Amino acid sequence: MPIRRYTPADAAAAGEIFRHAIAVIGARDYTPEQIAAWAGPDGTAERLDARLGDGRLALVAVDGEDRVLAFGDLEADGHIDFLYAAPQAAGTGIVSTLYDALEAAARAQGIARLYSEASEAARRFFLKKGFVVLDRRDFAVRGVAIHNYAMEKHLRR
Ligand SMILES: CC(C)(COP(=O)(O)OP(=O)(O)OC[C@H]1O[C@@H](n2cnc3c(N)ncnc32)[C@H](O)[C@@H]1OP(=O)(O)O)[C@@H](O)C(=O)NCCC(=O)NCCS
Repeated sequence: MPIRRYTPADAAAAGEIFRHAIAVIGARDYTPEQIAAWAGPDGTAERLDARLGDGRLALVAVDGEDRVLAFGDLEADGHIDFLYAAPQAAGTGIVSTLYDALEAAARAQGIARLYSEASEAARRFFLKKGFVVLDRRDFAVRGVAIHNYAMEKHLRR
């Protein structure tokens, strides 16, 4: 499964994946009100491009025709802000390959700790990658109560 760097031309596809991933995969664990609040206005191509294109490492997994199936990022301090898969690509191992590339880049940069605020699905994924849960975070997004998990993985002692 090819992994390559995100470019601004991927922004629209990333937006579609962001919205579909939340609506379809998120629905397994979150209510419709929580899904709507989570998706909010952040999934437009413009908003995603502003963040994914701000200098952080942003990678996409693509199919044989260079269609984006998943995307994720790594900020300079080890924070993973985004990890989203098209529903048809979730559970196939594509995200695992994408994540491994992010972790390899982090190690190459000498980053000692990866961390994220993980949804329920992401918590299950990150646990398989050796992350631990620090705590459950209960908060409100656009007035709707929701939760995720602070997770981390130390890459070297
Ligand atoms: C988080 C995510 C990128 C992980 O990738 P993945 O390929 O699904 O990873 P995994 O196969 O390890 O699955 C993790 C969990 O996702 C859920 N999931 C996976 N494929 C799914 C599918 N096709 N439909 C619904 N849920 C699915 C399951 O709850 C799964 O947990 P399980 O393996 O214990 O059943 C992906 O699930 C996703 O895009 N989720 C929605 C967006 C999201 O929560 N992003 C993280 C924001 S912090």
